[in-house]
Parts: sequence; C-alpha cells; structure tokens
Amino acid sequence: MSAILVIEDEEKYRRVISLHLSSSGYAVKAVGTAEDGLKLASEMDLILTDLKLPGMDGLAFLEQLRSQNMLAPVIVMSAFGTVEIAVDAMKKGAVDFLPKPFSLDHLSVVVEKALEVRKLRDENRELREALGKKYQFENIIGHSPAMQEIFATITRVAPTRATVLLCGESGVGKDMIARAIHQHSPRKDKPFVKINCTAIPENLMESELFGYEKGAFTGANISKPGKFEIANTGTVMLDEIGDVPGSIQVKLLRILQEREFERLGSNRVQHSDVRVVAATNVDLREALEQGTFREDLYYRLNVVPLNIPPLRERKDDIPYLVEHFAQKFGGTVSEGAMERLVAYHWPGNVRELENVVERSILLAQGPRVEPGDVRIDTSERSRPAAGVAADQFLPEGMTLDEYEQSLIREALKRANGNKSHAARLLGLTRNALRYRLAQMGLE
Ligand SMILES: Nc1ncnc2c1ncn2[C@@H]1O[C@H](COP(=O)(O)OP(=O)(O)OP(=O)(O)O)[C@@H](O)[C@H]1O
Ligand SMILES: [Mg+2]
Repeated sequence: MSAILVIEDEEKYRRVISLHLSSSGYAVKAVGTAEDGLKLASEMDLILTDLKLPGMDGLAFLEQLRSQNMLAPVIVMSAFGTVEIAVDAMKKGAVDFLPKPFSLDHLSVVVEKALEVRKLRDENRELREALGKKYQFENIIGHSPAMQEIFATITRVAPTRATVLLCGESGVGKDMIARAIHQHSPRKDKPFVKINCTAIPENLMESELFGYEKGAFTGANISKPGKFEIANTGTVMLDEIGDVPGSIQVKLLRILQEREFERLGSNRVQHSDVRVVAATNVDLREALEQGTFREDLYYRLNVVPLNIPPLRERKDDIPYLVEHFAQKFGGTVSEGAMERLVAYHWPGNVRELENVVERSILLAQGPRVEPGDVRIDTSERSRPAAGVAADQFLPEGMTLDEYEQSLIREALKRANGNKSHAARLLGLTRNALRYRLAQMGLE
C-alpha cells in the first residue's frame, strides 16, 4: 500500500483529500504545516502539499526535501494557481501541479500517475544497481552488450578452476581480464604468474616453465623452481599461447590434464594445482589447420572461450573509457573532441585510446581537450600520403611486384609465419594476403 502525505493548512480541504485517498486504498497522513510534514516525509511514497502555508511555504518545503535527499515525488496544490508558481515548483522538483479547486477525479489521476513514475524510477534504479553490482569489475569499463556478456561469463567462471581462453586483438584488455578472473577467484591471495610465451626463447622455455635441477645443463649451478611451481595454488596466465613451440605444447597438455610436471634434469614427478588462463591475439584455429598447434591442447585450453571484440566493434564503450582515462589523467574532454574519439577506428584498441587521451590532455591548449587537441598518432602506421621521398622509392632495379613480394616475405618473417598476423602488419585482410601468396606461388 502506498503511503501519501498531505500538507494542507485548510482543515476542510485536508479532510476531503484524506478521506478520498484513504477510500481509494492509500495509507494517508495529513498535517497542517510543512514543518510537521518534514518529520514524516522520509517514510512517504508521495507527498501532496499546498503552496501557501503558515510558516515554511511549499517551495521552501521542496528545497528542504531535496537538500535532505528525500526522493518522494511531490505534487503541489495552490489556489493561486498561476503558471509562474507552477513552473517554479516544477523547477524545484515537483512532479505535478494541481490548481485549486480541483475535482476528486483529477486528484486521483494525478496521484496515480506520480506513483507510477516513482515505481518506474525505483525499478530502474534497482536494475542499474543490480547490473552494476553484478557485472562491475574494478577498473574494467564495459557498457556495451558484448562487454556485459563477458562480465557475466567472468562472474560465473571466475570462482571455478575452469581454464579460460581469452582471444582478442592487441590492447583489448586480455591482461586486465585475466587478472580480474584471478581476483574474483578463491585463489586471489595466491600467486598470479604471467608467462609471455613470445618473450622466452624456445631453448629456455622448458626450464622457465617447469624449473630445473642443479647440473641439468651447463650453467645450472643451482636448482630453480619454474613458473608453474611458483604459481602453485594460484593462477598462471599463458600470454600469446599461439607462439608456444610444439615441444612445450606436449608438456602443457600434461600439466593441464594430469596436473603433473618434472623439473628439467629430474625424474621426480611434481604436482601443480594451478588455474590456467591463456590468451592469444591470433586465431588459434588457423594454427590448428596449419598443424602448428596441437588439437588436444587447443580443446584443453578452450574450455571457456572469451572473445573480446575490438574497440571499433563496441563504440558505445568509447565515451565511458574516455571519461575514465580523462579522470585518471586529470583532464576533461569537450563534446567535439569526444566525437572525434568515437569516430576513430582504434587499431590499437583500448591501449591506444588510453595513450591518445593522456597525450591529448598533456598537450591541450586550454583546460579542456578540444577537437583540435586530439592527438591521434598514426605515425606508427604512417603512410606517406603525399608521395614518397626520392630515397624511399623502389630499390634500384626492383619492380613493383618484386618489391611487394619482398614486403610480404618480410611480414611473414616478422609474424613467424602466421598469416593473420602478417596480414595485419601489411594492412591486408587474411584473404587478400592469401590471394597474393597464391599469385606468388607460395600458398
Ligand atoms: N575495458 C577496459 N577498461 C579500462 N581499461 C582498459 C580496458 N581494456 C583495456 N584497458 C587498458 O588498456 C591497456 C591494454 O590492456 P591489456 O594490456 O589488458 O591488453 P591486451 O589485450 O593484454 O593486449 P596485448 O595483446 O597487447 O597483450 C591497459 O592499460 C589496460 O589497463
Ligand atoms: Mg596482454
């Protein structure tokens, strides 16, 4: 039952209104002054107040309510129902206005409408709060449906031991999400160990991951635990998992399947209780096709796949991210600048956006980042739009075709033979690269 407070100094009015509302099924309290009304206001769903009252008047009462953060909607009544007063009251937060004299039917309609609005507003707030609580991960910003879905999945899987495979372009937040999974797991006070599989040379990888015994190889003067041993009872993040060489893939499979490993130079089987979160910015299925990645390992890793879309595919996150970073770097961003930031396609994803916001704030002419201050740095991917300088022209005696082929070979080399990666380096789609490779007779 909704509770309604009536503040009306004229006894006759007060009685009629109270009676009508009580008989309509509301719990009514009626008082003659705003001072008395204030004492009851916090327990009310709706307040009806006269504007002209002895002592504190209706407008002052409204101000008092708001300053005390009481959110019940207020309907004002007045015999001097001029437009100005109504406007003033609405500005101060009244939801509706009843000019006296009014019919009891009119009263009912206005009351019902105000209560309906309140109900909707409360439901919205509850929904927002529920969403916010459920799918908020510290500093990870994500309002887009795609990110909300990812948050929902993280919420479900973080407390388990399930292996998670994070896929997404560079800078989409894979590291951040891996850490959030650890933070929201019962292992949060245990070690989180990140292993960057591209950074470790193949011949050192086994000893890095699994440790070694003294004398296992030349230079092994002491025994040393590996990352999996250090991370015991915690979480291991295997970053750039696509780059793990075959010899190590077998050992990873074993640790995922049997939870067993041996230090290099030792026969003693050790057990490791680690939760694995793997990450990759290449399409592992392609590596499967090419036979560079073991299928059994892929299925072991791919228990819970999380595909984090590039920023350009979830542009609704951009304004929130910009606000977040602007706050972090102590600046503000104008609407026009925001428009430019939203329009850009962000090949470097959130990492690039963060850098651009920081740079723009540092170098802005005024206190606020205006459109002209937005420093999107395209130099890393620079293309000499106005033509090439003489010394940058085709190498002596080379044709355009030959030059193109040499660029493609170089890209493949830099990408360790990974075609998707090489295509990205060249600014091509994978299919476009394939087409060119076929033309070169290399496909
Ligand atoms: N949703 C997000 N909210 C706030 N900051 C983010 C978000 N996503 C990424 N970032 C920030 O962007 C930067 C890059 O994120 P992160 O290192 O997690 O990306 P990544 O996917 O691991 O990239 P890479 O593949 O290059 O390793 C970090 O500084 C991170 O804090
Ligand atoms: Mg990363």
